[in-house]
Amino acid sequence: MKHKILAYLEQNRGHRISGEALANLLGISRGGVWKAIKALKAEGFVISAIPSKGYSLADTNDILSSAALSPYITSKVMGQQITVHKTIPSTNEEAAKLARSGAPEGTVVLAEEQTAGKGRMGRSFYSPHGTGIYLSIVLRPQLSAEYCPLITAAAAVATAQVLEQLCGEAVLIKWVNDIYMRGRKVCGILTEGLINFENGSLTYAVLGIGINVRTIDFPDEIKSVAGSIGICDNEMKRGRIICMILDAFERIYTALPQKDFMAEYRSRSFILGKDIEIIFGNEMLNAKAIDIDSMGHLIVRLPNGDMKVLHSGEVSIKAWQGEN
Ligand code: BTN
Repeated sequence: MKHKILAYLEQNRGHRISGEALANLLGISRGGVWKAIKALKAEGFVISAIPSKGYSLADTNDILSSAALSPYITSKVMGQQITVHKTIPSTNEEAAKLARSGAPEGTVVLAEEQTAGKGRMGRSFYSPHGTGIYLSIVLRPQLSAEYCPLITAAAAVATAQVLEQLCGEAVLIKWVNDIYMRGRKVCGILTEGLINFENGSLTYAVLGIGINVRTIDFPDEIKSVAGSIGICDNEMKRGRIICMILDAFERIYTALPQKDFMAEYRSRSFILGKDIEIIFGNEMLNAKAIDIDSMGHLIVRLPNGDMKVLHSGEVSIKAWQGEN
C-alpha cells in the first residue's frame, strides 16, 4: 500500500490529496493511509501534511525507490524489476548475483550509496550517499562477447543524450567509457559479463552506470578530473533521470547489432584527432587518436607511423595534449 501511495504522490508532485481521497482511491481506511504515510516518513520521504488540505510529496524529495520511479518508466524491458538499496558494496556485484540466479533482462539494481563501487581496470568509483546515480542493469544479449564494448558505447551515447537534453550543454565521451561535461568526468560506465566458452556468447552482462549528480567533495586522487552534472539538475530528480536513461538505452540496445549509434559515439568523442598517452601495463605510449571503428576499437597512429587497433579494456588513456 505504501508503494501505491508513494507512486501516486510522485505522479502528482506539486498537488495535494486528502487522506479521504487517497483512502477512496486505494480502497483502504483513512487510518490505513495515515499509517502508510507515517511509514514513508520514517523511511525519509519528505511528505507534507496540512490538515483539511491533505498530503503532498515535498519538492526537495529525491529518495530513490521503485515506487517513486514507476510512474516514469517508459522502457518496455529495462526497469520492469527494480531493487533499491540504501547502501551496498557495488550494484554491479549485486546485479551479477541476480543474473546468476536467473533474473530477467532489464532487471535494475540501484543504490543511494556504494561502499565498494567498481571502476574499470580495478579502480574504484566514488559513490557517496544520495548525491549520485549508481545503476546496474542485467542484460542477456544474444550476442558474442566481442560486442561487450558496444554495450558500453551504447550506454555512453544514451547517457550523453539524456544529460544533454536535461542540461542543454555539450556532453562528450572519452573512449571508452567516460562522460565529460565542462571538461570534467561526470559519469563512468563499467560493463562486465559472463562468457560461455563453448560458443563465445554472453551468458549475461551487467551494465553499470555511475553519475555524479550533485557530489561536491571528491577524494584528492580524482579532484582535478571529477565533476558533477550538478548545476543543471535543480528541477530534475534522480529517479526521472534514471528512467530517461533506461528508455534511451533500450532504444539503442534493441538495435545494437546495426551499430547505427556509433556515428554519434564518434561525433561525441573528444579524443579523436588529438595526441594521447596510452598505458599498456607498465609501458606508456604516445599516439594520435585517429578513429573508432564500428566495434568500438580505438585506432591510433604511433610516432613511428604504425597504426594500432586498441581493444576496450586493453589500455587506459592517461592524458592528452592541452587537457587535464
Ligand atoms: C569507471 O569510471 O571506470 C566506471 C565506473 C562505473 C561505476 C558504476 S556505479 C554503478 C555500477 N556499480 C559499480 O560498482 N560500478 C558501476
